Amino acid sequence: MTSKTDGRPALSSELVEQFSLHGRTAVITGAAGGIGRQAAITFTQAGADVLIADVGVAGLEETAEMVAAAGGNATIVPTDVSDRDQVNALADAAIKTHGRLDIWANVAGVIRYMNIVDATPEDVEFITKINLWGTYWGVAAAGRTMTNGGSIINVSSAGGDMPAPTLSIYAMTKAAVSHLTRCAAVELGANNIRVNAIAPGFTDTPMVQSRWTNADGSTNEAERESYTSTRAAQSPLRTIATPEDQSWAMLYLASDASRFITGQVIRPNGGVVMA
Ligand SMILES: NC(=O)c1ccc[n+]([C@@H]2O[C@H](COP(=O)([O-])OP(=O)(O)OC[C@H]3O[C@@H](n4cnc5c(N)ncnc54)[C@H](O)[C@@H]3O)[C@@H](O)[C@H]2O)c1
Repeated sequence: MTSKTDGRPALSSELVEQFSLHGRTAVITGAAGGIGRQAAITFTQAGADVLIADVGVAGLEETAEMVAAAGGNATIVPTDVSDRDQVNALADAAIKTHGRLDIWANVAGVIRYMNIVDATPEDVEFITKINLWGTYWGVAAAGRTMTNGGSIINVSSAGGDMPAPTLSIYAMTKAAVSHLTRCAAVELGANNIRVNAIAPGFTDTPMVQSRWTNADGSTNEAERESYTSTRAAQSPLRTIATPEDQSWAMLYLASDASRFITGQVIRPNGGVVMA
């Protein structure tokens, strides 16, 4: 129903309903900070019950406090996403805690900077096992566990859309995550499970803050200003993203508002890559 205030239509309750996650259970990996933490808060604000997973337990506890401040009650499930058994246990925890699983966001990820000629087998294994295998096990566990349809949201990157010098392993895993998204959408569509990805552009989170953080944890302000203004200048909008810019796109993909969207990579990147 739409009511009118001051001659303008108020927010339509039908429209709000389409973006609501009320009564849904959501799993979010990488939720100890950055985009995953913000997704947990945004999904809570939209009405979901959240299970938050990460290897960083202290960060998960902070996120749980923020979820509580938003009126929710997060379930903490320490999880290493590169371990298939732990990811399966995370899906089981959703059923045990809330009796259902509707939304699964594969946000956990790592980055390392090096040239291809210098990369070690350990570099390749470490990044691939978390960014790609971790997402793969997440898609598999969610696909197996969602019995009433659902939405799986993977996190790719603008680095998966274009050549990324010094980030070849990271970029390679993110391109693979985008393609895994399309393959999974075809396999799971018959079960009314939608699979999409966001491919964020440069977003102000701990992952990129490491570029301007000193060894003692303090911020190198000159480096921060130089780095962020260079990245902002690459966008037609002349700015970098906040974690909210990513979580709001994720909310759209999690909600019924995107019920006819599957197999897509949505790009909250300020127009840095247009595909
Ligand atoms: N920040 C950006 O500019 C940007 C751009 C494009 C894509 N992304 C992607 O967004 C996602 C979130 O990144 P962020 O920017 O919030 O970074 P972040 O470093 O703040 O968050 C990543 C989280 O993943 C967790 N993690 C690492 N290894 C894990 C493992 N084995 N198991 C479980 N959790 C693990 C970390 O503890 C951390 O909390 C990542 O997949 C990243 O690649 C970020």
